[in-house]
Amino acid sequence: MKTNIIKLSEKETSKDDKNLEKITNTLKIGGLVVFPTETVYGLGANGLDKNACEGIFKAKGRPNDNPLILHIAHISQLDELVKEVPKIAQKCIKKFWPGPLTIIFKKSDLVPKEVTGGLETVAIRMPSNKIAHKILADVILPIAAPSANISGRPSPTKTEHVIEDLMGKVDIIVDGGHTVVGIESTVLDVTSDPPMILRPGKITLEDLQKVDKNISIDHTTIDAKDKTVPKSPGQKYKHYAPKGMATCFVGDLNNVVAEINKRLESCKGKSAVLATSETKDNYIGADLVLDLGSRENLEEVANSLFDLLRICDEKKVEYIFAEGFELKGIGLSIMNRLLKACAGRIVIGL
Ligand code: TXA
Ligand code: MG
Repeated sequence: MKTNIIKLSEKETSKDDKNLEKITNTLKIGGLVVFPTETVYGLGANGLDKNACEGIFKAKGRPNDNPLILHIAHISQLDELVKEVPKIAQKCIKKFWPGPLTIIFKKSDLVPKEVTGGLETVAIRMPSNKIAHKILADVILPIAAPSANISGRPSPTKTEHVIEDLMGKVDIIVDGGHTVVGIESTVLDVTSDPPMILRPGKITLEDLQKVDKNISIDHTTIDAKDKTVPKSPGQKYKHYAPKGMATCFVGDLNNVVAEINKRLESCKGKSAVLATSETKDNYIGADLVLDLGSRENLEEVANSLFDLLRICDEKKVEYIFAEGFELKGIGLSIMNRLLKACAGRIVIGL
């Protein structure tokens, strides 16, 4: 398949009518279009067209039982996709849409089972990225879009990542620069009692509990040793895995640095440290030190994590040593991704 790359800017989206028409026409006839959202790039197709959605699973190499998120531009599109909009969902929509919050509802008959992995629920989100919004508003269809990576790889935060994974497998890649959040949306299930976060993201447990204090979190998302089946199908799969063996170190920061330095001695020439700005100069024996950003600005850390995991692959790093973060606020979301990247290898209590 020939893949067209179309560059769009968030500032000038409205002026790019010809390109927008190409994009929306491709979606309408069942094609695959990668587009930026504020979180990560999404691999989009018409969410009401079974065959188009099958194309998504094929291009990504994604297991069929892992459901997709439907993306909409306007609240008026919600009603026909869901059975009901519970009060708590209404409050969350008011506060966080458009934005990086996905909400799980009971699905209507209009939503194909192929989209929901056979589940009776459907995940819906309204992105705030202006390019995504313009495409969704012009096409007037719910667009199914998982992260635009090959299944198992880190989610793409820039076009180069998408090209690496999906060139030749999709019709169009919309290049909209680096995404601003860098990790995927928070997934909140409002069909359960209490409502549960199934995947933590930029919108944190603390943010959601301000809307309703009963909102809770599925602990399998942050407990590497918990073998309970996660409530979100996507959370049970190997994810974000770099090719090298990654391990995460948690505890007093000085002890973390000392422990990583000790381990570095036995893997010279093939290691990398995922450090923070505060500690990056303390790894004397490291072949490669990658700076996630400052501990004072965890949003920056979240935004660089997937980029740096991909750099480890590019540099053929065999051992990755990652500093851990406290399980609160966005730190919890970063740890959810890191623990998956580390396939549960974590050293705690340092
Ligand atoms: O930020 C994002 O959410 C990005 C951008 C492109 O919007 N999309 C994204 O999609 O991360 P994906 O498919 O990579 O992740 C969706 C997650 C998966 O873990 C999936 O299992 C879960 O949401 N999910 C979707 N529908 C669900 C449902 N009905 N019940 C439980 N979990 C669901
Ligand atoms: Mg994904």
